[in-house]
Order: sequence, then C-alpha cells, then structure tokens
Amino acid sequence: MRAYVVKEWKHPSELALVHNAPEPATGPEDVLVDVHSAGLNFFDILQAQGKYQVKPPFPFTLGAEFAGKIASNSQIPKGCPFKSGDRVFGSAQGAFADRIAVRWNSIIPLPDNLTFDQGAGLFITWPTSYEALVGRAELKPGETILVNAAAGGVGIAAVQLAKVLGARVIAAAGSQSKLDICKQYAGADYTVDYTTPDWQKQVLKITEGRGVDVVYDPVGRIKDSLKCIAFKGRALVIGFAAGRIENLPLNLVLLKNISIMGLHWGLYAHKEPSRLLVVWKELLSLLSSGKVKPIVYSTVYPLAHAMEGLGALERRETWGKVVVRVRDDEDAKAMAKL
Ligand SMILES: NC(=O)c1ccc[n+]([C@@H]2O[C@H](COP(=O)([O-])OP(=O)(O)OC[C@H]3O[C@@H](n4cnc5c(N)ncnc54)[C@H](OP(=O)(O)O)[C@@H]3O)[C@@H](O)[C@H]2O)c1
Repeated sequence: MRAYVVKEWKHPSELALVHNAPEPATGPEDVLVDVHSAGLNFFDILQAQGKYQVKPPFPFTLGAEFAGKIASNSQIPKGCPFKSGDRVFGSAQGAFADRIAVRWNSIIPLPDNLTFDQGAGLFITWPTSYEALVGRAELKPGETILVNAAAGGVGIAAVQLAKVLGARVIAAAGSQSKLDICKQYAGADYTVDYTTPDWQKQVLKITEGRGVDVVYDPVGRIKDSLKCIAFKGRALVIGFAAGRIENLPLNLVLLKNISIMGLHWGLYAHKEPSRLLVVWKELLSLLSSGKVKPIVYSTVYPLAHAMEGLGALERRETWGKVVVRVRDDEDAKAMAKL
C-alpha cells in the first residue's frame, strides 16, 4: 500500500510517498480502515522532524486524523459495533496512507450529511474548540468572544460554535482574505486584522470600550489580546501556532481580574474519558443538524501531493481544515455538489 513512511527525522518536504509499504499491523482491539481522506495538522510537520512530543519508533507512518470506511478484510473484534463498509472518522498514528489500524472504541460513525473530506478534520479540531468554549470558558449567550487565527483549523470551528452558543464573535486573522472566509463561511459578526498596529483599539470600539469577555487563542497572542479583554474576562490558551511558547507577566492577570485557562483536549481520554462522550454527543448533533459545518480548504491535495499541503499549512497560506484525498469516492463527489 501507499504510505508516507518516516525512517529518520526530516522535514516533510523531503519525505517521499512509499508505494510498497507493509499493511499496518492490527492488535486484538483494532479494526482496519480504508482511509478516504486525511486531515493535516501542524504537529505532523513537527513530528516528521522529531520536534513533537509523540515520537514513534522508526519506521512509522506520518499523519493522524482520517475519515474512511472499515476495510472489507478487517477483523471485527468482540463487542465492536462496526462492520465492513461503515463510514467512520478518528485519529491514530499513520493516516497518510491507504489503510490505518485503529482501536475500534476510539472511532466514531461519520454523520451521513458529511463527506469524507469534511470528516477527516473533525476528530481533534472540533472537540478542542467545543470543550474550550463550553467546558472551560463557559461561554454564555450575549457574551463577546475574540477568536484569534479565526480562519485556521481550530479557529474556524470556534467561530461557528461560539455563534451557536449565542455569543457575539470578533474574528481576528492575518489577512483580508482570511477575514472574508470567517464572515462568509463561519458567520463571524466582526473581523479585525491583527497584523495591523493598534488592532485592539478596533476591538475596544466594537465592544464600546468594555473589551471582550473571552479570548480564544491558538497562536500565542494572549498578551496582545489582554489589551482588549474585559474586567473578569477569560483567556483560553489553545496553542502556539506562531512557534513560540508565550510568556506572560502575571501583573496583567491581576490588573483586570482575569482568568487564564488552558485546554489540552488530548488529555481528556486519560483524565476524564466520560467527558468525551458528552462532548461528542453534542457535537454530532450539531454537525448532523447542519447548524455547524466543517470548512475544508479550497485545495484538496491528492495523497501524492500531501507534503505540499503541509508546506502550505506551514507557510500560513491555508484556511479552514487542510485535507488530503487518499481515495476518490462517489459519495464524496456527490455530496460536494450539494
Ligand atoms: N490544545 C489543544 O488541545 C489543541 C488541539 C488542536 C490544535 N491545537 C493547536 O492549535 C494551534 C492551531 O491549530 P490549527 O489546526 O488551527 O492550525 P492551522 O489551521 O494551521 O491555523 C493556524 C493559524 O495560526 C496563525 N499563525 C500565526 N502565526 C503563525 C505562524 N508563524 N505560522 C503558522 N501559523 C501562524 C495563522 O493564521 P493567520 O495567518 O490568520 O495569523 C494560521 O492560519 C496549533 O498550535 C495546534 O497545535 C491545540
């Protein structure tokens, strides 16, 4: 089968697609999934170079998020509700490949109204934003939220979810075209280019001087954003897409009576697994109803060009979720036209 096999640490641009990679080994609790689409994440770029906390032993296949069908030759472990051909999505090591082995109890049925491309970027991105807004910041109807990198993978989900929760959303991003995406596809109420000087003044103007109740930050721009946070505001630390772990003078926390909260979605599987069920029940209901919709970047890369997709992600050119199409599927084509 085809797979991006990492045999030594290197930048993804130097990684070639292997055409005769071995089939993935399945453990007793695993099913085999035919990957139809895979989601690209910034940590894939880091992992290929040995700069990510998860360092599988060599050789390993790159990629994590996927959507696909249970393979016809998959074993079906005892208690597993899936059967061959079922549409599923999930995350495991090795998504940039024709097939992936994954624990049956970690995958989720793909709602009928979503394409494989849309499903490929759900598993990490959407619960991260949902739990940050609902479980951590407890965002309330009528509150105002500033979403940084609002056109990016987690950001564009946060914008949509905040709207569904009844909040007023100010989307901040680094270019006019990305801001247009936030309005057009995600329903942001206001947009601000946070590369312009004194952008916080625009946020203060929108909020009539009060500032925002919640800041959602996947970039490393918390300190900047505190210039326009309200008294008793909550700031969510989601990630450091700018490549530097931000330091914060704690007097800023004291001066405005604010709370800084972190969210590491991956930890819930170990620390609070019951929360996964609650979050996914809500999310699947929202996704199935069409109240929120995964936004896929306009260029969908074939597997042979997956590393170009990671390059575009790294160069900050993309918006929404960047997806690799591993198999062309009639279902996906039909639904894409809807
Ligand atoms: N805490 C968690 O559980 C969790 C879960 C998932 C992801 N994350 C983290 O969240 C961050 C964003 O993930 P994502 O999937 O939304 O990524 P993404 O789709 O690549 O979006 C990241 C955005 O960050 C902005 N950015 C600012 N400076 C950048 C730089 N120097 N290089 C690249 N991007 C830069 C860009 O938007 P502009 O051009 O508009 O500035 C870019 O679109 C990542 O650090 C990721 O690791 C955390």
